[in-house]
Amino acid sequence: MSRPADDPTPSVGSTPADTTAPGGQEAPQTVYEMVGGHETFVRLTRLFYEGVAADPPLRDMYPEEDLGPAEERLRMFLEQFFGGPTTYSQLRGHPRLRMRHVDFAVTPTQRDRWLRHMLGAMEQLDLPEPAAGMMRSYFLRSAQAMVNTLEDPEATPESPPVRSSTEVPRPRLSVRRLED
Ligand code: HEM
Repeated sequence: MSRPADDPTPSVGSTPADTTAPGGQEAPQTVYEMVGGHETFVRLTRLFYEGVAADPPLRDMYPEEDLGPAEERLRMFLEQFFGGPTTYSQLRGHPRLRMRHVDFAVTPTQRDRWLRHMLGAMEQLDLPEPAAGMMRSYFLRSAQAMVNTLEDPEATPESPPVRSSTEVPRPRLSVRRLED
């Protein structure tokens, strides 16, 4: 497989997981459906941006005074990525997430902040496995893919910048390539 990290075509999310009971006729579900659909993604991105809003170094990266539009863009992207409606691409075009992040210095420290808020939001929602694990795995991988500078003014001698190849364990679900 060789698709970019944010390729909107069917992927980890939209590849239906086989939930068919032996002999049953149950329809396969997407991750989007397995975790509760639209409402879950509304809550996830709300909690995530509450975390961002309360984390000044991360908040300072976001150019808009109102985080609402950024929250909506992230929600639409994630809904699409995990197999829900494709509204994001209808409104924004191809995600090209790495390209959309080049104006922002995504250091390993900022990546860790982003991840802390996203994984924290997921924990609060207590989403069902195995879908939750697939989401966590994607977030670890995609956040790493978004790092675009190792010049990290916040790195301390105790926590030097880690080389990108060793930062995040290889995901067990290798569904997408990271480059865009
Ligand atoms: C790793 C640390 C990350 C940082 C510091 C970061 C920061 C930002 C910033 C400052 C923006 C601009 C705000 C806006 O106008 O929307 C943005 C946009 C966005 N980010 Fe990130 N981001 C990170 C990782 C991610 C990841 C892992 C994803 C996806 C899983 C993601 C998805 C998005 C999306 C969908 C947008 C809006 C793109 C658009 O304009 O349509 N970001 N991010």
